[in-house]
Amino acid sequence: MGKALIIGAGGVASVTAHKCCQNSEVFEEIMIASRTKEKCDALKAKLDGGKTKVHTAQIDADNVDELAALIERFGPDVVINLALPYQDLHVMDACLKTKTHYVDTANYEPPDTAKFEYSWQWAYHDRFKDAGITALLGSGFDPGVTNVFCAYAQKHYFDEIHEIDILDCNGGDHGYPFATNFNPEINIREVTAPGSYWENGRWVHTEPMEIKREYDFDGVGKKDMYLLHHEEIESLAKNIRGVKRIRFFMTFGESYLTHLRCLQNVGMTSIEPIEFQGQKIIPLQFLKAVLPDPATLGPRTVGKTNIGCIFKGIKDGKPRTYYVYNVCDHQECYREVGSQAVSYTTGVPAMIGAMMLMTGTWKGPGVFNMEQFDPDPFMDALNKWGLPWKEDFNPVLVD
Ligand SMILES: NC(=O)c1ccc[n+]([C@@H]2O[C@H](COP(=O)([O-])OP(=O)(O)OC[C@H]3O[C@@H](n4cnc5c(N)ncnc54)[C@H](OP(=O)(O)O)[C@@H]3O)[C@@H](O)[C@H]2O)c1
Repeated sequence: MGKALIIGAGGVASVTAHKCCQNSEVFEEIMIASRTKEKCDALKAKLDGGKTKVHTAQIDADNVDELAALIERFGPDVVINLALPYQDLHVMDACLKTKTHYVDTANYEPPDTAKFEYSWQWAYHDRFKDAGITALLGSGFDPGVTNVFCAYAQKHYFDEIHEIDILDCNGGDHGYPFATNFNPEINIREVTAPGSYWENGRWVHTEPMEIKREYDFDGVGKKDMYLLHHEEIESLAKNIRGVKRIRFFMTFGESYLTHLRCLQNVGMTSIEPIEFQGQKIIPLQFLKAVLPDPATLGPRTVGKTNIGCIFKGIKDGKPRTYYVYNVCDHQECYREVGSQAVSYTTGVPAMIGAMMLMTGTWKGPGVFNMEQFDPDPFMDALNKWGLPWKEDFNPVLVD
């Protein structure tokens, strides 16, 4: 059918590339292009031999002209941006220049401010519309599948959804006292930021990790979880009719939190540049350099993830609750594609999002969040491509 250009060669990109190669009817050719070409070549060596033809290239995705030239040369139907959120706008600019569809998994963050929101990317809507191309924002698990779960609940089970709780549980153990399951810089910026949730048409702000709950997760067991700000709340508040409250919770173990607190207290999570031996360094970037690379956690991570959404609302005048979630096993992911479940649960939806655009199943020029399209084909694809979901019509609710 067509070609995809994958930008980045980290944990998530590796899974997406594997899944594209499993889906060679749609992805006849892929190009893996990233800052460090050796990583792209190492990935290609693992993937070669199947039906999908794999190319590699070196690219600095912040250089719009170079990236646009690469897109012109390779001629992909879609660019899947799996570098870091800092690159989003530059990759979108290159897609505009070349009239190519765009997919990512995380919304834009300026490198010098720990603030993530959709305003910068939504501002591209008219330009994408005029160019006749689609930008699909946040096609990972959360955001991504969680948005599709919301659209599915709205379409099939509710006249009005009043409350949404998104629960992200990682019950995995990698054996290190402290490591992050995806890019440490992005992960630590996310979890050390103040929390917030949406209630009655406005944001309610909290201190970082101020709100804690315990939940008994299918496949994992009881875990402590903490309320965080998360990007899908912003788009769901706009797109889910009648919604009054949206919260996002993520589980963290005691060891992770104790280490994080200590690192914060000594200033290691700061993004303010400091002078070190005659040069400026950013403490958080230095910390990333000494922490385990998330892409290497695969062989040693055991246990499961469980991510899903609990809904409360009304159907035919009666109150209704509904929980839809996926349970994913770290070791099964590793056996299949050589990565742990956090990369897997992000990389699979990125492939499916690209497939939705390439096959024309989801179409419409402009910039869109996942819940704005018909959820059914995506939900079917999740079952087919490794992220089957379960439903519970009488779930335990979070207070
Ligand atoms: N929605 C979700 O559910 C979800 C969950 C987890 C992660 N994510 C997102 O997924 C993305 C990838 O995460 P990851 O864990 O795979 O990160 P990662 O392992 O750090 O990989 C990032 C890759 O991007 C490359 N890169 C960085 N800057 C670049 C530039 N200017 N030009 C070209 N390539 C560049 C890096 O190159 P080097 O190899 O040279 O460093 C690396 O290969 C992140 O945006 C993350 O926020 C989303």
